[in-house]
Amino acid sequence: MKPRAILHASQLVTLAGPKRPRVGAELSALGIIEDGGMLVRDGVIVATGSSDQIARDLPNDIEVIEAHGRVVLPGFVDAHAHPVFGGTRVDEFEMRARGATYEEIAASGGGIRSTVRKTRAASEAELLAQAQKRVQWFLRSGTTTMEAKSGYGLSLEEELKILRVIRQLNETSALEFVPTFLGAHAIPEEFADAPEQYVTLVIDEMLPTVAEQGLAEYCDIFCERGYFDLADSEKILKAAQSHGLRLRMHVDQLTNSGGAFLAARIGAATADHLEQTNEAEIAALAEAGVQPVLLPASVYALGKTRYPKARAMIDAGLAVVLGTDFNPGSSPTPSIPMVLSLACTQMKMTPAEGITASTINAAYSLNRGERIGSLEAGKAGNFTVFDCADYREIAYWFGTPLVHSVYVEGECVCSAR
Ligand code: NIG
Ligand code: FE
Repeated sequence: MKPRAILHASQLVTLAGPKRPRVGAELSALGIIEDGGMLVRDGVIVATGSSDQIARDLPNDIEVIEAHGRVVLPGFVDAHAHPVFGGTRVDEFEMRARGATYEEIAASGGGIRSTVRKTRAASEAELLAQAQKRVQWFLRSGTTTMEAKSGYGLSLEEELKILRVIRQLNETSALEFVPTFLGAHAIPEEFADAPEQYVTLVIDEMLPTVAEQGLAEYCDIFCERGYFDLADSEKILKAAQSHGLRLRMHVDQLTNSGGAFLAARIGAATADHLEQTNEAEIAALAEAGVQPVLLPASVYALGKTRYPKARAMIDAGLAVVLGTDFNPGSSPTPSIPMVLSLACTQMKMTPAEGITASTINAAYSLNRGERIGSLEAGKAGNFTVFDCADYREIAYWFGTPLVHSVYVEGECVCSAR
């Protein structure tokens, strides 16, 4: 592959900085190079600088990408997503529009369980085809790396099926996927009368097999009233750790069930959602260095109004992350730009904080901060060109497709033109 240079970005938003997740005022330091340029060779960034500096000593065989005064950002990293599932829940969407709540729909047999039925009914090839279509939506929104959770199978074979689909997505698409095992997403219908037996199945059969087959890097759990309580969560997460999996947790989404303290105590990489989390719990997460993954699109899409306390978390020194929570029930959006809009309007994060939270901080939360998440020499040439001149416009023009083109390891993988 020829070396490539991109020149004349109105802003090359590098996120250059310390080699760790960013906290406090660092969240606002985007390392912007005005009229910026960047050189990429063999998929890896060789240099960033002003366009003049980069243009000065270009190799002879260089291919130049002209940014024409557009904004260039690292590819977004979506640290929380459930992209593999059968069907949609558009019927429940309409029921909520008519006044039903997510909790009521779940209690009457809908919710996660209805997606489990459709996912089990789909073949591996069908699930892959559905997910591949959705993956294009992520690329078109400027995302180049995403987490992918299982969790709509809820039996050994069905969870393995989903994790194999995630592996195939990774092999067949330009996007990079980080696989997470979420067998403890809900108690499946057939175990409704014996939930403890399902916990045993997760611990004794699912976790060892998933780990042995190398199908996941992380283990997640839905720690929530009516799903998995603190004691079961701790048992499952400890078992996951013993198999070498790192931990993420769904915590305090609908009710406060004490999951944030558990995340801190057990050393989870992330605690996600946190809509109901209080100050003492925020302090515990800070003390333990757990990264909060905030998912405002799920609050919005459920028609709720209680967003996580992002400002208190930033003040407490937490390395905040933003994600989509892409899933068919509570957050049917692949769009980090939409999440940035919500972060600014509903959680009072600044556009700069939002961008740090959805690039470098998200990359660290997925154990990939050394390789992606910023535009610095030595990192992968994963970047997105936006059709605007100021990075703040990405959050400002909400619902507007500003992505012009997307590059992974220096190759154009998606172009709006
Ligand atoms: O993150 N909270 C649990 N999981 C999803 C919802 C999944 C679903 O409704 O299908 C979430 O919001
Ligand atoms: Fe989720």
